[in-house]
Amino acid sequence: MKITTFSFPTPTVFGAGSVAQLRARIVPMGMHRPLVVTDPGLVTTAAFQLLAQALGVERRDRDWFVFSGVHPNPVEQDVRDAAAAFRAHQCDGVIAMGGGSPLDVGKAARLLVKRPGFDFARFYDESDWSHLAPCVAIPTTAGTGSEVGRSSVITLDATHRKAVLFHPELLAGLVILDPQLTVGLPPKLTAATGADALTHCIESFTCPQFHPLCDGIALEGIHLIVDALPRAYRDGSDLEARGRMLVAAAMGAVAFQKDLGVVHSLAHPLSTVCGLHHGLANALCLVAGMRFCADRKPGIYRRVGVACGLDVLQGADAEADQRTIQFIADFLGGMGLNTRLEAHGVRHEHLEALVAQAVADPCHQTNVVPVSPEDFRKLYLEVL
Ligand SMILES: NC(=O)c1ccc[n+]([C@@H]2O[C@H](COP(=O)([O-])OP(=O)(O)OC[C@H]3O[C@@H](n4cnc5c(N)ncnc54)[C@H](O)[C@@H]3O)[C@@H](O)[C@H]2O)c1
Ligand SMILES: [Fe+2]
Repeated sequence: MKITTFSFPTPTVFGAGSVAQLRARIVPMGMHRPLVVTDPGLVTTAAFQLLAQALGVERRDRDWFVFSGVHPNPVEQDVRDAAAAFRAHQCDGVIAMGGGSPLDVGKAARLLVKRPGFDFARFYDESDWSHLAPCVAIPTTAGTGSEVGRSSVITLDATHRKAVLFHPELLAGLVILDPQLTVGLPPKLTAATGADALTHCIESFTCPQFHPLCDGIALEGIHLIVDALPRAYRDGSDLEARGRMLVAAAMGAVAFQKDLGVVHSLAHPLSTVCGLHHGLANALCLVAGMRFCADRKPGIYRRVGVACGLDVLQGADAEADQRTIQFIADFLGGMGLNTRLEAHGVRHEHLEALVAQAVADPCHQTNVVPVSPEDFRKLYLEVL
């Protein structure tokens, strides 16, 4: 039997209005001059106003500072710029606020605060990342779950591919899940980010590693998402649905400590080569990826179907899979997530670059069945 470690260490504050506790919470963490890392879209939102009120609007640029230069699908320069702002303002901690992009940059900026000029291409040669600046993560999308994750996904200059920088020290010291901060997220982004969380739960549950704790969390995450996501999509001000989605997204990321699968390997190149939003890329590939896995490992989605509320506990494996996959297809289609890649600017001439990057992506190494380059080509063509 392989020896393994189970770990769920992030202190999390949950509830509408909980961001108001921010200042009181950061002081015991040793943060007196935090840098808020976010993106340009967020600084104009009501969510950012709530954060600013919690930190003291009049104290901005005196004892808290803002770096808002993070791009969607962030690149190395974003991390360098955030670290430079941290040093310029003599900050002592990071408040990463936003979707997965600012959260990933905020977490990773601390690496360059510790080692200025560090070359991320050598990330895995370096193991001592102890004593990073403290970090609070405050998500404003309910998707990536980066707030509870030990990794930052950054497109590196050296490869132009998304690299997963994984280290336990990247974990935020505190997470605030305040559904009020997600109320202004438009329906399309609500759906796409929610589909990312759903994909995390499905792929981590079916990933063959032994981790029953994560399996249970993934199944409950699916159960929450199939109920709450359509409600949050239809009525963005439904705080109960927004809150459930925030928790489910965090659960998805806790679950994918187990790892992910073929759908994420299909999705990552769609962002780096064609600029698609990460959640949208997953949503458009999820059903094809599920069919691919179910054809080779019948019965793999039976318990996913049960978590979706389907009566598939009994009966033939193929039928349980088929009904579950149809449910997911209808679920995504109900939120407009059933378009083809071509509708989002992906062209046949992108195919070889997409396949090459998908093969090099690590996620499919833990897929429930192996995926060959030819399989990737067929899967892309199926959804193109
Ligand atoms: N670290 C991890 O574990 C992990 C896991 C999955 C994905 N990711 C990464 O996360 C990134 C995607 O993150 P994302 O899907 O959250 O999108 P995002 O952070 O790129 O944000 C998308 C858009 O939503 C806007 N937005 C965010 N919150 C808003 C709000 N409350 N109101 C209005 N607008 C709002 C932003 O301004 C931005 O324009 C990708 O780079 C992906 O690779 C990381
Ligand atoms: Fe994801």
